[in-house]
Amino acid sequence: MTNSKTTLSKLLAESNFSQECKELLSYLPKDRSFFAEYLYQYQGFWYPPNLLEGVLNSQKHFQARDSDIILVSSPKSGTTWLKALVYASLHRQEHKTPLESHPLLDNNPHSLVPFIEAFNFHTQDTSPRIFSTHMPLASLPESIRESSCKVVYCCRNPKDAFVSLWHFMEKLTLKEMVGCTMEEMVSAFCRGSSVYGPFWDHALEYWEESRENPKNVLFVMYEEMREKPEDWVMRIAEFLGCPFTEREIEDGVLEDIVKLCSLENLSNLEVNQKGKLVNGMETKAFFRKGENGGWRDTLTPLLAEEIDKTTEQKLIGSGFRFFC
Ligand code: A3P
Repeated sequence: MTNSKTTLSKLLAESNFSQECKELLSYLPKDRSFFAEYLYQYQGFWYPPNLLEGVLNSQKHFQARDSDIILVSSPKSGTTWLKALVYASLHRQEHKTPLESHPLLDNNPHSLVPFIEAFNFHTQDTSPRIFSTHMPLASLPESIRESSCKVVYCCRNPKDAFVSLWHFMEKLTLKEMVGCTMEEMVSAFCRGSSVYGPFWDHALEYWEESRENPKNVLFVMYEEMREKPEDWVMRIAEFLGCPFTEREIEDGVLEDIVKLCSLENLSNLEVNQKGKLVNGMETKAFFRKGENGGWRDTLTPLLAEEIDKTTEQKLIGSGFRFFC
């Protein structure tokens, strides 16, 4: 067994969980799926058991502060990039020359911005604190929902997010562990049974919240950020209460941040080629092509159509559209 396989086997082994989690798992609906042997449905969304335990833990223990910033996404929708951009924008006073010396040069973005469902949310003590999560809106810890935290949600079109997950699982040897075909995986994805799925409901809930509560929830699209990263970093910084000044823009601060956080720059750093996260995952697994519409290389027309049909049905009457 390779190291990454051993780590994932341990993470997914149901016998390691707390008694409370095991009891819950015994009566929750479960579905054979592609990310773990079984996914479990909790509060309307599907989780592998290790992540469900993290969700339960954060719902019980996470204490939000009004100044917290929470970055939310479905898996493979641009989480790593958003973490880097927000971290670099918020810390731009301390790290003025980001291309020469910057924490992002030695740390993967996931090490600087922890997931609240990953048990290590106690480690940050700067203000504002930046956290991330893949949790759906209704399952966020009560302390977040009752606070005036700022939430930035990054959305990606379902075909690219699906394909990104497919390749991610391949890199982590998860597909081999669970043993499923792409047809089975698309079918599970479309019936909602994917990690933190249904993918569409996840995005729609945050999109609706961003319209009802625009001061606290900003909805951004990965594809739009790819097309105009500087515009979006400016909008995000403004939303977070730390707008870029004209002087900073003239001095190239914004441009430097976008360069520092680019896929090309981050993916070539040693920490992102040879590093590992605390849970043992290889950091290189988080970087690939980052293409808008890159799904065309991987999905057959039939499978793409299956996802499109689901998208069409899910969005009826919502007024929401994914990018491309
Ligand atoms: P692809 O697999 O399509 O290339 P997440 O961070 O949510 O896990 O999403 C991973 C996706 O974001 C991958 O997409 C990855 O290549 C892309 N990505 C990672 N870092 C990026 C960056 N700095 N800029 C743009 N895209 C990035």
